[in-house]
Amino acid sequence: MNTKLQRVAAVTGAGGGIGLGIAQRLARAGYQVIAIDRDDKVNAAAAAIASEGHQAQAVVLDIADEAAVKKMVADVDARYGRFDVLVNNAGIHPKVNGERNSFLKMTTAQWNEVLGVNLTAAFVLCREVAPLMQRNGWGRIVNMSSRAGRTLVDTAGIHYAAAKAGMIGMTRVIAAEVAPHGITANCIAPGRIVSPMTEQGSAEQRAMLVGRIPVGRIGTPDEIGHVVEFLASEDSGYLTGTVIDVNGGTFMC
Ligand SMILES: NC(=O)c1ccc[n+]([C@@H]2O[C@H](COP(=O)([O-])OP(=O)(O)OC[C@H]3O[C@@H](n4cnc5c(N)ncnc54)[C@H](O)[C@@H]3O)[C@@H](O)[C@H]2O)c1
Repeated sequence: MNTKLQRVAAVTGAGGGIGLGIAQRLARAGYQVIAIDRDDKVNAAAAAIASEGHQAQAVVLDIADEAAVKKMVADVDARYGRFDVLVNNAGIHPKVNGERNSFLKMTTAQWNEVLGVNLTAAFVLCREVAPLMQRNGWGRIVNMSSRAGRTLVDTAGIHYAAAKAGMIGMTRVIAAEVAPHGITANCIAPGRIVSPMTEQGSAEQRAMLVGRIPVGRIGTPDEIGHVVEFLASEDSGYLTGTVIDVNGGTFMC
């Protein structure tokens, strides 16, 4: 990273799980991090990063609230004059007893809730932030898909799988449009990563799922943060419109 320039990186869902791992990584790499979450635990998360001597500002907002998102983007622009990296990480995956609910039992309200947070909110964030990146002639967008957006995953509901596959198609279109402006857009498709989201389900279910991972363990939020840091770096300008699978080898099986 250019030491004369402190880049500004926003991470949604940074209050815990993978988002916190990403925020920590980027802050340690020298970014001014905007840590966004609807849960006010993000205040403590940002304070912990700051106590290590790094830069993190917490913003409590629901990314499905378009007016709040627009205000956040305007506030970041007013305060820092730049918006360099956007990591659309926040996501939800409501389950019934840790299981995938049959699509025949999925209500339209359940579908809309997951699509709203996992896909539409990311679209709105990209649409609102990209003009600021374009203005500065540089930007990096990283959208969190999932192995469930790439292939059939037996724990993933239809709403979740559709949103995560949609993230990949959406990112491709964004990447093509912003490419002439020094902006890249890519997806990460994690396999199983340690987080509150994967603590759902029984111990037997979790052990069975680990048994299917070739490297023999669940991945860590920091390992996803590592890939985000790589995609966000100055030297990754030729890497756009793609998906990086991070899953301990599961996808090849
Ligand atoms: N953990 C995994 O195994 C795994 C695998 C593949 C993909 N993913 C994806 O990675 C991302 C992070 O997953 P995680 O496991 O860390 O989940 P998590 O549930 O542990 O954390 C998600 C964070 O997002 C926040 N959030 C949820 N809805 C929000 C909203 N509307 N506005 C603002 N913040 C909101 C939550 O408060 C929480 O802090 C998600 O998009 C998820 O789908 C996770």
